[in-house]
Amino acid sequence: MAPNRRTAVARAGTNIALVKYWGKRDVQLNLPRTGSLSLTLAGLETVTGVTVDPGLQHDHFELDGHIERGVPLGRVGRFLALVRERAGVTGLFARVVSRNSFPTAAGLASSASGFAALARAASAAYGVDLTAEGLSALARRGSGSAARSVFGGLVEMEAGVRPDGSDACAHQLVPPGGWPLRLVVAVTTEAAKDISSTIGMGATEQTSPLYEAWVASHAVDLEEARLAVAGQDLEVLGAVMERNCLGMHACMMAARPPLLYWNEATVAAMREVWNLRARGIPVWFTIDAGPHVKTLCRPEEATAVKAALDAVPGVARTIAAAPGEGARLESMG
Ligand code: PMV
Repeated sequence: MAPNRRTAVARAGTNIALVKYWGKRDVQLNLPRTGSLSLTLAGLETVTGVTVDPGLQHDHFELDGHIERGVPLGRVGRFLALVRERAGVTGLFARVVSRNSFPTAAGLASSASGFAALARAASAAYGVDLTAEGLSALARRGSGSAARSVFGGLVEMEAGVRPDGSDACAHQLVPPGGWPLRLVVAVTTEAAKDISSTIGMGATEQTSPLYEAWVASHAVDLEEARLAVAGQDLEVLGAVMERNCLGMHACMMAARPPLLYWNEATVAAMREVWNLRARGIPVWFTIDAGPHVKTLCRPEEATAVKAALDAVPGVARTIAAAPGEGARLESMG
């Protein structure tokens, strides 16, 4: 039995995939075609409060002080309906109040921290008891990358093989304090992207002749990245991270019509990372479904990397983040 009126507040950090997920084996259940490997970040977070309230006639969603309707409310409402189904309740709606500490929908993966925080808070508010893996599989229904933000540090997401998706969840490889790393983001625009990852990956799968080749090479990338993480070999991990991302973007560019998330500053920042490496600074990049360039380095090089990326024409600002914790409950009342 779910409680009548209850508020749960949860916090989750975003994560950046070093080996990407792009494409779904089941759209309905949001099952990924490939596994992925990511780093959960401290400081780039979503805090979400979920209040289940018998007085409400429908779900409400407020994001960064704006009342959301239409598509964002629909996505949150469908997610809450799943949680209600697990709780065995009907007609008990919720008010969701969410805050991001970084720009929404600009390729900084706010859906990852957003749905991880929502999964944690909503399951608590509706009284659904889940293991960490169960919470990860639930978060996946909101956004594929959210399954990884349930865990901190370096995380691997399994594509899974079961048709019901119960084995398509993430697990932790290295806790946040286990390998000192920094992720430095070069923000190349503050504008929201115009093609969502769901639309972009569907178009890539259906129309890009390069997509199946990327999926085939992905298994090798994931295996190599997993070994590099186990051996804390940044050079190998960095090389895999760059090639896996460039392969994914090559698939997108070969889609019909072509899909290009980059802008001029994206390319300039990529070149700067290669310049830094040529000068002996160990740093590698990845790029998601957006124009920002996310670089991985050791803490001792982070200041130099940040300064170099700040000086790239078109880079609006940079953000340096350390590995962070997974989704956690902040309060319950
Ligand atoms: O989970 P979504 O729908 O936000 O898709 C994430 C896609 C990428 O960020 C490009 C790759 C990834 O694995 O996070």
